[in-house]
Amino acid sequence: MASPVAVKDLYDSYINPGMAKLHHLMGLSAGELRGEGSLVYDEDGRRYIDCVSGYGSLPFGHRPGPVLEAVRRQMDRMALSSKVMPGRPVGELAEALAGWTPGDLQYSFFCNSGAEAVEGALKLARAVTGRPGFVAAEGGFHGKTFGALSVSGRQRYRAPFHPLLPGVTLVPFGDVEALKRAVSQETAAVILEPIQGEGGVHPAPRGYLTAAREICDRAGALLILDEVQTGLGRTGMPFAAERDGVVPDVMCLAKALGGGVMPIGCFIARPEAARAFWEDPLIHTSTFGGNPLAAAAGLATLDWLQREDLPGAAAETGRWLKGEFEEMAKRYPGWIREVRGEGLLLGVEFVDEARGGLVMSGLVEKGVLTAFTLNEYRVVRVEPSLTIDRGLLIQVLEAWDAVLGYWCGQLDPGELEATGWEPDRQVLGPDSENGGESRETARNAGKEGDGNAGGSGEGVVRRALA
Ligand SMILES: Cc1ncc(COP(=O)(O)O)c(C=O)c1O
Repeated sequence: MASPVAVKDLYDSYINPGMAKLHHLMGLSAGELRGEGSLVYDEDGRRYIDCVSGYGSLPFGHRPGPVLEAVRRQMDRMALSSKVMPGRPVGELAEALAGWTPGDLQYSFFCNSGAEAVEGALKLARAVTGRPGFVAAEGGFHGKTFGALSVSGRQRYRAPFHPLLPGVTLVPFGDVEALKRAVSQETAAVILEPIQGEGGVHPAPRGYLTAAREICDRAGALLILDEVQTGLGRTGMPFAAERDGVVPDVMCLAKALGGGVMPIGCFIARPEAARAFWEDPLIHTSTFGGNPLAAAAGLATLDWLQREDLPGAAAETGRWLKGEFEEMAKRYPGWIREVRGEGLLLGVEFVDEARGGLVMSGLVEKGVLTAFTLNEYRVVRVEPSLTIDRGLLIQVLEAWDAVLGYWCGQLDPGELEATGWEPDRQVLGPDSENGGESRETARNAGKEGDGNAGGSGEGVVRRALA
């Protein structure tokens, strides 16, 4: 029998050659085959410790038994909804969320992803207020559909798609005065992340969310908190809004809500905001949103998170892990600039992207999966499952130390160029408002013909760490 086509060739020919290059550059050309808890095995039988967790969507790691079991039970009864009858699993999930989220957040709308949750929340804010405008934060990330992208703060992702939603003002994150100046009688909502995850793991300064709440109340605008990444225990508390004791008008959730088994998103609103969709309940709908399988996964997830106090466990493990990374930062000051974050949403900021990239691909070689944050490539996230055991985290720390120790001893800054590890410049292109230069650079990188990722990054790292 002919051997199957290599997965990297399938990506190269049928998905996106740029993505194939990125995988190659990271040394990740073999396909992922199997996941078990915090471990992933590839088609060549290599084992990796997963410190990305599907960008935070695997609170219990891969294939968590209780969630799988709940989904299997539901599958045996009914998988997808008729859409015309009410469904018990989704009703009970909404009830459970109302019980756990802060304050009087009560009415949920279910969809399938974080971006869709944000879309719905933005629409709700316009319907409630009759106003057009939104204020959002530079560096913020809310997804890549048009509305969500319009309130996201990275030019690289915005530039090729103008015109975006009109009436959006971006302000520096954490600057109360700038927020005050931007919010007006035209503002439908302010949308913020309590901790900017993809922006490079930046917690909001203490008091910022409280100030945002007051500014919104004075202006009659809604406060939307996007907890798609920070919610459901990731930051060491059930919801990161609780850092400031703030109750938003609308909260967006997704990722962890599916327990690492089903895709699901939702926004949950206070009654005063939610009522805007009551008169015509079909004004905002989703065919797959709130389907019985995803709802069953959500219910099992909330039950597990609360029963075993996993937010508390994430706080404790995260405190220890952050301390370890801070110690490491002291050992490699020419490489690591800062360690930030709370709970198990940690970010290690490198002095530049090249160093971060080298360390990431070195970690792959050592069997540890990491990824940079989408809006800030200098920051490598440390985002394992909330249930990861310390033994594995010690192996992760040892791998980081070995890779950093190796490169620190080997490279002058000038030699970095020669490694070929310049993902931003060579594969993805630099940030620019018009996007032209970045597309040109990406095209040129794509022309290099032999499948080698615009340089010899993988080769260098493999040779060095073998
Ligand atoms: C805060 C936040 N909001 C929204 C999204 C978009 O979620 P999705 O990728 O499920 O559309 C993300 C994804 O990383 C996110 O971190």
